[in-house]
Amino acid sequence: MPSLAVIGHPVAHTRSPDMQTAALAEMKLAGEWTYGAIDIEPESFEVEVAELAAAGDYAGVNVTLPHKEAALALADEASEAARAIGAANTLTFRDGQIAAANTDAGGVLRSLPIGLFGIGAAGAAGGGDAPRRRALVLGAGGAARAAIWALAHGGEGAPDAEGNPTRVPAFEVDVWNRTPERAETVAGELGGRAIADPVGADYALIVNTTSVGLHGEDPFEHLPIAAADLHAGQVVFDIVYGPEPSALLAAAEAAGATTIEGLEMLVQQGALSLRIWTGEEPSLEAMRTGARRA
Ligand code: ATR
Repeated sequence: MPSLAVIGHPVAHTRSPDMQTAALAEMKLAGEWTYGAIDIEPESFEVEVAELAAAGDYAGVNVTLPHKEAALALADEASEAARAIGAANTLTFRDGQIAAANTDAGGVLRSLPIGLFGIGAAGAAGGGDAPRRRALVLGAGGAARAAIWALAHGGEGAPDAEGNPTRVPAFEVDVWNRTPERAETVAGELGGRAIADPVGADYALIVNTTSVGLHGEDPFEHLPIAAADLHAGQVVFDIVYGPEPSALLAAAEAAGATTIEGLEMLVQQGALSLRIWTGEEPSLEAMRTGARRA
C-alpha cells in the first residue's frame, strides 16, 4: 500500500492531505494509497527522508518550507526545473533512489487560463515570430524563482475541458523586488530582467509572489503598482495562498482583469506531483473542493 505525505516544518495547517486525499478518492485509489503530513525539523530532514525512502512503504513525498533546497540536495537525480530553480517540492522513491522534481514551476503555467495568451492545444501556442507577452513577477524568494523560470521558458498548461494537453508560450519576464539586489540575482539566474520602476499597465500578466497582503498589508502601498494600472485584458495572479479574495485580486477584479488565486497554484502543483507518482491526471475539481474544505 503506497504511502504519500507532505513534509514541512511546521506542517499543521497544510491543506495538501485533504486536497490529495480527495484526488485519490476520485481516482479510485483511496483504498490503495494514503496521503498524510509529517513534521520534520531541518536538522533531521536528510536522515529522516533517507529512512522513509529506504523503508519501502513510501512512494514519494511533497516537500514544503523550509525544506525545498535540502530536498534537491539529497536527491540522486533531479528534473531540469528543480536544478534550474535550485529547489524541489516533489520527491519520488524508487529502487532505493530518490528523484527530485519541482512542480511549482509547472503549477504556475497550469494555473494560467486556457484561451488567454495563446494557451491552447499543444503545438498551437507561441508559434512563429509572435512577440512574447510581458509578465511582471513581484518578489525574489522561492515562489518567484519557480515563476520566473516557468514563465521565461513556457511549457505545459492545464489540460483543456476534453483532457487534451495545452502549451503555454514563453513570456518576457521582468522582476521587481523590494530589495533590488535580490531581483538582479534571481532574474540573472532564471531568465528574467530586473526592473526598478515597472509600469503595471504594460504587463499582460502580473504575478505577486511576495508575502504582501497575507497579514492585511495594502498591496498598493508596498508593491510598485497602482490600482489604476490594472485593466481588462490583463491577468493578475496572487501566488501565495492567503485570505480570499486578496486586496490585490479584489482591485484587479474591480478593474475588469482576470484573477488567479493562490489556491489554484496549490491545486496545480499538487496535481502534477500526484501525476508523477500515480501516472494518472487527477481531477482538478476534486482537488479544488478538497483544498477548500481543509
Ligand atoms: P518565498 O516564500 O517565496 O520563498 P521569501 O524568501 O520569504 O519568499 O521572500 C518573500 C518575498 O516577499 C521577498 O521578495 C520579500 O522582499 P525582500 O527580498 O525585499 O525581503 C517580499 N516582501 C516581504 N514583505 C514585503 C513588503 N512589506 N513589501 C515588499 N516586499 C515584501
